[in-house]
Amino acid sequence: MPSMEIVDKIKKLKKEKNAVILVHNYQLPEIHDIADFLGDSLGLSMEAAKTDADVIVFCGVHFMAETAKILSPQKTVLLPDINSGCPMADMIDAERLAALKARHPNAVALCYVNTSAAVKAQCDYCCTSANAEKMVRHILTKHQDIIFVPDKYLAQYVSSQVARSFILWNGYCPIHAAIIPEHIARARQQHPGAKVIVHPECSPDLTALADIVTSTEGMCKYVKNAAETEFIIGTEIGIIHRMEKENPGKHFYPASNKAVCPNMKRTTLEKVLWSLTDMTHEIIIPQIIMDKARLSIERMLQIK
Ligand code: 13P
Ligand code: SF4
Repeated sequence: MPSMEIVDKIKKLKKEKNAVILVHNYQLPEIHDIADFLGDSLGLSMEAAKTDADVIVFCGVHFMAETAKILSPQKTVLLPDINSGCPMADMIDAERLAALKARHPNAVALCYVNTSAAVKAQCDYCCTSANAEKMVRHILTKHQDIIFVPDKYLAQYVSSQVARSFILWNGYCPIHAAIIPEHIARARQQHPGAKVIVHPECSPDLTALADIVTSTEGMCKYVKNAAETEFIIGTEIGIIHRMEKENPGKHFYPASNKAVCPNMKRTTLEKVLWSLTDMTHEIIIPQIIMDKARLSIERMLQIK
């Protein structure tokens, strides 16, 4: 079926079912183009919390759809490809986190949003890459020790900003970890004068070389407002479609063409159509886990 025909069918079904399509910045260009809301993990959580649609079609990965369900338990949340996982989120589970917490009974547990609902249910606070530093500063006004899971690189970056160390987990994003200093050196050589913007999921070797370190939404805002016209982008390359669309005349170069998250690319127009047609794959989370996990996310959303 031609893409335009699929898009028309998606639009019709969306109206019939009172659905909204939430899309992460790393999705394929054609998925960006059907978004009702396009953004980073924080923006998508906020949107999921306030939408009055009956159905949320989540074009992202599993933990994001779970977060939407936790915040809108009365709504139907659909993930077009149920196998869209996140390897970083899978690097920790509730049992191993419980064991770590038992070894540090006085520490507060802060989880990156890239975690399962069961892990969030074990945590006191949640954060995204957009608000991690703010969350840590807030927690430090009340508590001394923080267990920060699972992204050791995000935790190390925040640690460098607040001059405090945390109890870490050995988790990381394989996509961001594969962007290495040589990529930045080569890109700077090819595009002298371009601003280097990298995601805090990158390793400390990489964030040390960047001009700006920020979340995907922070990157989009920065490039829009910047006087500069050339940017080297150190994150998943899907975001470049949005940057080019929003900033005609500016130029965006991926730090590495290989920074592609295969899980983010599993969502296709066909799968979105099937998802709305068959109401699949519905996110279901046990009530007790949902209620516990919501506390950590709501604490995050309350911090302005
Ligand atoms: P943000 O879009 O929140 O910056 O997160 C990046 C990411 O890797 C999501 O999986
Ligand atoms: Fe997970 Fe990394 Fe993919 Fe984000 S880019 S979904 S952190 S694997």
